[in-house]
Amino acid sequence: MIKKIGILTGGGDSSAINAAIRAIYIRASQFGWKVVGIKNGWDGLVKGNVMELNRDSVTGIIAEGGTIVGTSRTNPFKIENGVEKVKENIKKFELDAIITIGGDDTNGVITKLTRYGIKGVGIPQTIDNDIAHSDYAIGCDTAVEVVTECLDRLHTTAHSHSRIMIVEIMGRDAGWLALNGGVAGGADVILIPEVPFSYDEIIKVIEERKKRGRDFTVIAVAEGAKPEGEEGQITASCTVDNFGHVQLGGVGNVIARELEKRTGYGTRVVILGHLQRGGKPTAFDRIVATRLGIKAVEMIRDGKFSEMAVMENGSVNSVPLEKAINEEKPLDRELYELSKLLY
Ligand code: F6P
Repeated sequence: MIKKIGILTGGGDSSAINAAIRAIYIRASQFGWKVVGIKNGWDGLVKGNVMELNRDSVTGIIAEGGTIVGTSRTNPFKIENGVEKVKENIKKFELDAIITIGGDDTNGVITKLTRYGIKGVGIPQTIDNDIAHSDYAIGCDTAVEVVTECLDRLHTTAHSHSRIMIVEIMGRDAGWLALNGGVAGGADVILIPEVPFSYDEIIKVIEERKKRGRDFTVIAVAEGAKPEGEEGQITASCTVDNFGHVQLGGVGNVIARELEKRTGYGTRVVILGHLQRGGKPTAFDRIVATRLGIKAVEMIRDGKFSEMAVMENGSVNSVPLEKAINEEKPLDRELYELSKLLY
């Protein structure tokens, strides 16, 4: 018998999380359940920091980016007695189940915690859109719109100055955002973490364009992309987070130096960074978030724990958390190959 549930948002935020929180609250209250927001991701369950949600707290938030309950990259498995503290606080706040909204890390924690008897369901949320079995993760559509708009704007200035414009896009191990944003924004070269790149190939494109009278080139590069033959990614800092990730950044500058040296073109680099994660969600993202939020509540009602609410082949569905977390989402090879024709 469910009486109270908690919502937890963890990892990097994005634009439509609040739309999911709103949907969860509305549907859960129709079943007579209480809903609390767990503050700042797993940190809130380690420290016992929660906020009661009511109709007022979710009114109007469908249009707001960020997350009203806060987020962090806390991993209770890396904190002394972290799991014990999470269990104690779940008991203290009488949470019958938790809905986790996040990427692999956040949903990976609930996957492991369910082995300790904690009841949870997940929702995919990441601009990287790299969660297996879900066509979309909350936030990815808004991020693609941002990338597309920035590429549109950068085209005109690259053209005016006859420059190479390199646009660094988020995506640690997954090039989904760079690929989709790059195709939509008309990038001439798209570089992604899944496929090591070759400077010779990039220069071939620049030269071909020049022959056609196009004296500028726009390159979309995912922050995790690396040249052929190189092992490590380019990092912006040495600090490692609770999940073992370092902050990436700088590949655009490395590419710019090399291309300037080898082509003589002037280059400029734009790092889109957290602009891709903020601001108003698109209509599509709001709808995905709303559908997944409602599905997650109904999964709890039906006793379908340890599962993730997903959009699979266009329909709302649920898959075991273990599958969603441990399987890799394949790169859309067809779109990648097609992107190489468009310069
Ligand atoms: O996981 C989503 C993501 O946006 C990655 O694409 C990026 O590498 C990372 O988060 C950046 O995180 P932070 O907010 O910690 O800088």
